[in-house]
Formats: sequence, structure tokens, C-alpha cells
Amino acid sequence: MSKRVLLCAAFAVLTLVGCTQSNKSDSTSPSFDEVFTSRRSIRNYDASKKISETEVRELLEATQEAPSWANQQPSKYYVAISPEKVAAVQNLVGANKDRIAGAPVLIVSTFEQGKSGFFQGQQTNEVGEGWGAYDNGLSNCYMILKARAMGFDTLIMGMRDADALRELFNIPQNETVMAVIALGYRAGEPTRPVRRPLDDIVKFF
Ligand SMILES: Cc1cc2nc3c(=O)[nH]c(=O)nc-3n(C[C@H](O)[C@H](O)[C@H](O)COP(=O)(O)O)c2cc1C
Repeated sequence: MSKRVLLCAAFAVLTLVGCTQSNKSDSTSPSFDEVFTSRRSIRNYDASKKISETEVRELLEATQEAPSWANQQPSKYYVAISPEKVAAVQNLVGANKDRIAGAPVLIVSTFEQGKSGFFQGQQTNEVGEGWGAYDNGLSNCYMILKARAMGFDTLIMGMRDADALRELFNIPQNETVMAVIALGYRAGEPTRPVRRPLDDIVKFF
């Protein structure tokens, strides 16, 4: 066999390996659309499935890719992952308690005040601290979508006892407590709540 034929054969093998590998990752990762359409607020979790700290770290690294006002990155996260802390947080989300029974991780999100929407200590416009809440919502949105891409499910909860959570996690006063997010595995298939007609929310000019 000539040197040229050998080189061609080697090239063909390498190309094939490359294709197989990329197909493999394609078949295991959900598409962007699949992540979007399969994400739902889950209110029934499979208590037999656990999530590791390593997985939560990967999830939270994804939230760090979210945009924020002047890259202020005001969002902070307090992760309840030990059974004791999870049980404690579960008691601080009011009527949500039963909905998140079985979720192995509960994440409290906060944002640092005086960062997003501020320049040299001065409020930049009328929205004020609202920009911190905006940035926190963006980070949390990255979180719930990344969670779905990793095969997890979530429930964002605005019904929660902020003061008690502050005490439980020793959250400083310069942080505003926002949502608690349950993280786990769905125990059943949810239905998709109806969305408003597009023309109710959009005006073109
Ligand atoms: C800021 C915020 C607060 C929410 N608070 C709660 C809550 O306390 N309890 C709950 O069951 N769902 C809560 N939800 C979930 C919404 O009810 C849900 O997103 C909405 O019904 C649309 O359903 P979907 O997420 O499955 O698309 C909240 C969602 C957001 C974004």
C-alpha cells in the first residue's frame, strides 16, 4: 500500500471518529427548542432521585453566563442540599410546601442592592433597585433552562418567608431575598398552562 493510500485511510478513520463523537453528543444533549418546550413549573417531585453538589455547581456556573447591568452580577445563591436544610426551607414556602416535597435541592436567590441600576452610588434612572431584581430574574432564567438541559426540573416560588430565610442562611441586609427555586426530577408529566394570544402582549409600529 502506498504512503498516500495509508494517509487517506488514516484521514477517513479520523473523520469518522469525529463524526461519531459529535453525533453522540448531539443525541445526548437536548436541543434548545426541546429545553424551552419541555421546561415546566413542576409541583410533583420524584423523591428517590438525588442531585449532587457537583451538579448544582455546574448549574450555577451557567447562571453566571447571564447578562447583568454593567456586568455587576448582583445575584447570590444559598443552596439547601443537606436533608436538614432542605426540610427547613420547605417549611418557609407557605402553600408551596407539599408541591416541592421530594425535591432534593432548594435554592434561595437574592441580589445585592446598590449595584445594578446604580453608578457611583447614584440611582441611574427611575427603575432603581428594580434592575437588581431584573438581573436576578435573568440569572434564574438561565438556571431553570440549564436545569432542564441537564435533565432536572424546577419550580420558582415567589411565595416564601423572606425574613425567616434571611435568618436561616444569615443573609446580609444589603441583599434582597427573591425567589426560592426547587430543583429535582419530575414525578409525572405536567400540562402546559395556556399563554395569552401574542397580539395581547405585542404592538408593532
Ligand atoms: C416570579 C415567579 C414566582 C412564582 N411563584 C410561584 C409559587 O410561589 N408557587 C407556584 O406553585 N408557582 C409559582 N410560579 C410558577 C408560575 O405559576 C408558572 O411559571 C406559570 O404558571 C407558568 O407555568 P410554566 O412555568 O409551567 O410555564 C412562579 C413563577 C415566577 C416566575
